[in-house]
Amino acid sequence: MKTIFHLLLVLIVFSACRETNSIEEKPELYGERYRPQYHYSVPTQWMNDPNGMVYYDGEYHLFYQHYPDSNVWGPMHWGHAVSTDLVSWKNLPIALYPDSLGMIFSGSCVMDLNNTSGLGTEDNPPMVAIFTHHLMEGEKSGAIDFQYQSLAYSTDRGRTWTKYADNPVLDNPGIKDFRDPKVSWFEEWEKWIMVLAVKDHVNFYSSNNLINWQLESEFGKEIGAHGGVWECPDLFKLKTADGTEKWIMLLSINPGGPQGGSATQYFVGDFDGKAFTPDDENIRWIDLGADNYAGVTWSNIPEEDGRRLFIGWMSNWDYARNVPTYVWRSAMTIPRELQIIKVNDEIILTSIPVSEMESLRGERRSLQSGNNSLEWMTSEIELEFESPNHQLVFSNESEKLVVAINDSTLSIDRSGIGDRSIERGFHANHIAPIREISPQQLRIFLDESSIEVFVNDGELVITDLIFPIDTLTSLEIRGDINDGEIYQVRSIWK
Ligand code: FRU
Repeated sequence: MKTIFHLLLVLIVFSACRETNSIEEKPELYGERYRPQYHYSVPTQWMNDPNGMVYYDGEYHLFYQHYPDSNVWGPMHWGHAVSTDLVSWKNLPIALYPDSLGMIFSGSCVMDLNNTSGLGTEDNPPMVAIFTHHLMEGEKSGAIDFQYQSLAYSTDRGRTWTKYADNPVLDNPGIKDFRDPKVSWFEEWEKWIMVLAVKDHVNFYSSNNLINWQLESEFGKEIGAHGGVWECPDLFKLKTADGTEKWIMLLSINPGGPQGGSATQYFVGDFDGKAFTPDDENIRWIDLGADNYAGVTWSNIPEEDGRRLFIGWMSNWDYARNVPTYVWRSAMTIPRELQIIKVNDEIILTSIPVSEMESLRGERRSLQSGNNSLEWMTSEIELEFESPNHQLVFSNESEKLVVAINDSTLSIDRSGIGDRSIERGFHANHIAPIREISPQQLRIFLDESSIEVFVNDGELVITDLIFPIDTLTSLEIRGDINDGEIYQVRSIWK
C-alpha cells in the first residue's frame, strides 16, 4: 500500500513539473519559459482565434477564443483584453460564457452607433457581439444543425455583457459548418453586412437592425484554396496610393495552408452590397509562414485614423495543443496594418507592423555583415541591402534558425531549433516565393517563441513560432548589407 502511495506521489509531482514550468527558474506570470514579452498572450490556459475586435472610446478591444479550465481547447468562452495603444494590454474578466444554446465560438463586435438594434440608446449606443453558438450536445448526437448565430450586447464599454433574449438571430439551415460571422456597417448601402463561413464558401447576409438577416449571395465554392474547411472571413475596402478602391476578403482555411495546416487566404475584387466578384482566380495568402491563423480586422477605427488593423492567432491547428508551454497556450501576432499596392497591375495585400510598435524600442546597436552577438532575444531587426542573397543565422551552441532570402524565395528554416517533441510537421523549412519586386529591406521581430519577417513594406510576411531549447545568442549575416540595426524590444508585462 505504502509503495503504491509513493508511486502515486512521484507520478503527481512528475506531472505537475511537466505541466508547469520550472518554478524556481522564473516564478512570476509572464516570466515563464517561452512567454512572449511583447505579443499579447492569454494570461493562463488556452486561447485560439482573436474575436470581436472593435475600437471604442479610446480603447482597442481584443476578445479571443478561450478555455479557462485547461491548456488545451475545450468549451469556448470569449476572453477579453483592452489596449489604448495596440501595444500594451490590460486583461479584463471573461466577457462571454457558454450557455444553454452552446459554446461561444468566433465572431465579431460592432458599435451600433445609431442604436439600430434598440439594445442601447442613441445617447449610449450598444457594443454588439455577433458570434456562433456551437451546441456540443447537438454535434455529439449526430445532428448537423448545431451552429447558429447569436448576439450579446454591452452598454458599459464592453465591461459587462447581456445575451440577446431571442437568440439565435440566424438559424442553421442544415449545414454542419456554419460559423464565424464578421459584421460591418457599410454607409454606402446603409446596412449591416454579415459574411459567414459556410463549409466550402461564404454567405453574405444583410440587415438593418442586426437582428433580422436576409441572405444576399454566396461566394467561393469554385474558387480559392479548398484544402480544408473555410473559417473566420472578413470583408473590407482599401485604397491604393493612386486612389484605386478594392474590396478584400480574408478567409482562413484549415487544413490546406501553404506550409501545412492552417493559413489565411485573401481575395481581391468588388462588392456591390450584395455580392462579391473577384478580380481573378489567383490564390493568395496573407502570410506565408505557418503561424498566422483566423486573423480579422478591427471595426469602428475612427476615420481620422483610417487604418485597417489586423491581428492573427499565432499558431496552427496542426500542433497548437502540443507546443511546450503549459501555464498559457497561444499568443497573437503583433498587430499589423493592412494596405493594398499595385504590382504590375495586380493588387496585392501588404501587412506592416503598426507604427505603435516603435514605442517599445529600447537600446539600439548597429549590425554588420558577418558575426554579431545577439544580445536580446526580444528584438527588432532592420536590414537594407542592394541585392538579395542573404542568410541570417540565429544560433546558440547547438541550435540554428536560418532566414534566407534570394531573388525568388524567402525562407525560415526552423528544423534545426527546439526539441523534437512537438513534431506534427513543426520542424520544417518554410519557403515562400518572392514577387517581381526585388527584396531590399527586411524587418524582423523576434520574441521568446516567435519570429515575424516582413519583406520590403510587408509585400511578403512569414510568421513562425520557434521554441529554442536555449536562448539564441548569435546572429551571423551572410551577404553584404548597406545598413543594419537591432533594437531591444521592451517587455509589455514588466
Ligand atoms: C478557427 C475556429 C473557428 C471556430 C473556433 C472554435 O480556428 O475553428 O472556425 O469558431 O475556431 O474555437
